[in-house]
Amino acid sequence: MEYTTHELRQKYLDFMEKKAGHKIVPSAPLLPENDPTTLFTGSGMQPMVPYLLGERHPSGTRIADSQKCFRAVDINEVGDNSHTTFFEMLGNWSLGDFFKKEQITWMFQFLIEELGLDPQRFFVTAFAGDEKFKVARDNESIEMWQSLFAEKGIEALVEENPHKNGLNKSKIFLYGTDENWWSRAGSPEKMPVGEPGGPDSEMFWDFGAKLKLHENSIYKDAPCHPNCDCGRFLEIGNNVFMEFQKTKDGVEFLKNKNVDFGGGLERIAVAISDVADVFECSVFQNLRTKIEALSGKKYGANPAETFAFRVIMDHLRAATFLISDGATPGNLDQNYFTRRLLRRAIRNGRKLGLNDNFCVEVAKVVIEDYSEYYPNLLDKNILKEIEIEETQFRKTLEKGEREISKLLKNGSVIDGKKAFWLFETFGFPQEMTEEILLENAIKQSGIRIDKNETIDSMKEKIGDFLPPNFEKDFQAASKAHSDASRSAAAGKFAGGLADHSEKTTAYHTATHLMLAGLREVLGDHVHQKGSNITEKRLRFDFNHDEKLTDEQKQAVEKYVNDAIKANAKQILTEMDKAKAKAEGVEGSFWEKYPDIVKVYTFKDDTGKVWTKELCGGPHAESTGKLGVFKIKKEQSSGRGIRRIKAVLS
Ligand code: SER
Repeated sequence: MEYTTHELRQKYLDFMEKKAGHKIVPSAPLLPENDPTTLFTGSGMQPMVPYLLGERHPSGTRIADSQKCFRAVDINEVGDNSHTTFFEMLGNWSLGDFFKKEQITWMFQFLIEELGLDPQRFFVTAFAGDEKFKVARDNESIEMWQSLFAEKGIEALVEENPHKNGLNKSKIFLYGTDENWWSRAGSPEKMPVGEPGGPDSEMFWDFGAKLKLHENSIYKDAPCHPNCDCGRFLEIGNNVFMEFQKTKDGVEFLKNKNVDFGGGLERIAVAISDVADVFECSVFQNLRTKIEALSGKKYGANPAETFAFRVIMDHLRAATFLISDGATPGNLDQNYFTRRLLRRAIRNGRKLGLNDNFCVEVAKVVIEDYSEYYPNLLDKNILKEIEIEETQFRKTLEKGEREISKLLKNGSVIDGKKAFWLFETFGFPQEMTEEILLENAIKQSGIRIDKNETIDSMKEKIGDFLPPNFEKDFQAASKAHSDASRSAAAGKFAGGLADHSEKTTAYHTATHLMLAGLREVLGDHVHQKGSNITEKRLRFDFNHDEKLTDEQKQAVEKYVNDAIKANAKQILTEMDKAKAKAEGVEGSFWEKYPDIVKVYTFKDDTGKVWTKELCGGPHAESTGKLGVFKIKKEQSSGRGIRRIKAVLS
């Protein structure tokens, strides 16, 4: 039985709700709110962090969803048979409720019994144990998997050293903290203090030895096993047993034993259809057909074109979703990624002969396919933004490429300094100069390109293709014009995770007061478009067409400082979402919240309500000790979007 991807999503949610007693919650937006540690929601677990750390979830202790995710780090991996930057992650969580036995049983029931995956082709991994962090081998999961496989008449042998021994007729593979430990930061060594994580048990689909993916891969000299990456095994889901938290000296148990499951919706879909290519899954069908019609080329006809098709499908889908969640193309932070995705899609379009604007046509297909499930895709501005960006970039591209081919023809070396010059003069992005140099090097070397090639694997094959010190020279040249978005992106993770310190909480409350002030001063059209809070400042994006005048800024500051002086007290209520909306509670991402929502109100002794907003928290108990509020900067951060940076001192 085959399902469309949309049907599969529903089947999963139904299973979790009806068979496993979970409450279904909507997807959070791709741009996290009030989380300074990351630019994008990259896993289903991210919006759940406060609850995994012990805060009460308004929907209870068993939650399931399908979460929109964007992984910026995977941009260069797109092109092979499994990576996409945007994807939907099916998730289910136990917040101190059930644990390993129930989770593993449900997964087996859902994948093998409900969806009908062949248990012979289904492989799992479990945690081997770690002496340094004193976390034991996960015997409970191993035994559970063994008994489930046994019900299907399969003796599930355990392989203790898959890197050395390969498959070796086993079913259950044990790995250490590099492979079988999950936290947002990776292995325990990399986790910042306070970060939750734990051992995990991953599930893989075997596309089969007959595809000979391993033989052609860069991993061919090592034995193949589920985590080998050659493309034969596809990870379709991960059960994280999130019961630990990082401390100064190691890890300790969290208050609750939690389960955090994440499974790739499209990956499960291709496992069912048994085609080793996520881009063959049904959600890409209309996109493929559209690009084929526009270009006159066939998907899969040759490796270079397959690569281009995959990049266009992934990047335009991701860009459309990012814009729908507020990241219009631009030069800062999240906006920069949308720009980068659109530009790469455009450049790859040229490889298919798409030399005129085509992105809007493809984005329309994304909107048609998904708007039933994600209605904010119907925002008319999305197509407008894409069109403007494409038109602008085509001009840049032509000038830059003309200049590069001139330089290459003359035998000039394009070093980091020249690459920066191209960027500064024509706006030609560094990574595109690098990609052109890579293509050029491949052409000259005569190396064969495989079907599952990515930018990263091509780089690995070709070795050094950039002039010495390329990156260093580029950076040196760009010092004066530093690309704020890149450094911001790189610095994000170091900022510290799960940051619920007093100072950030104070900033969070100040942000609510400021939004209320902005709405009073500028008008009711103002809503939040993004927010990022650290211990040192708040940063807040909102919709408004004009620059704020000094008087307006002062009036907003006064509103916040008056609220602080009035020492308004926090009132936390949980109520029906429809009721909150009807009462005029302020909120911008209604669709991300479950049916029962938390509303934070700050009210002073005279009865004046300073702010009443939909929010997950946490917040200061009262406003009296927030300090003095000051707006430091007010600027544009995209068409129709303003950005304020402000501090409390
Ligand atoms: N957090 C885990 C992951 O992203 C499972 O949800 O893989």
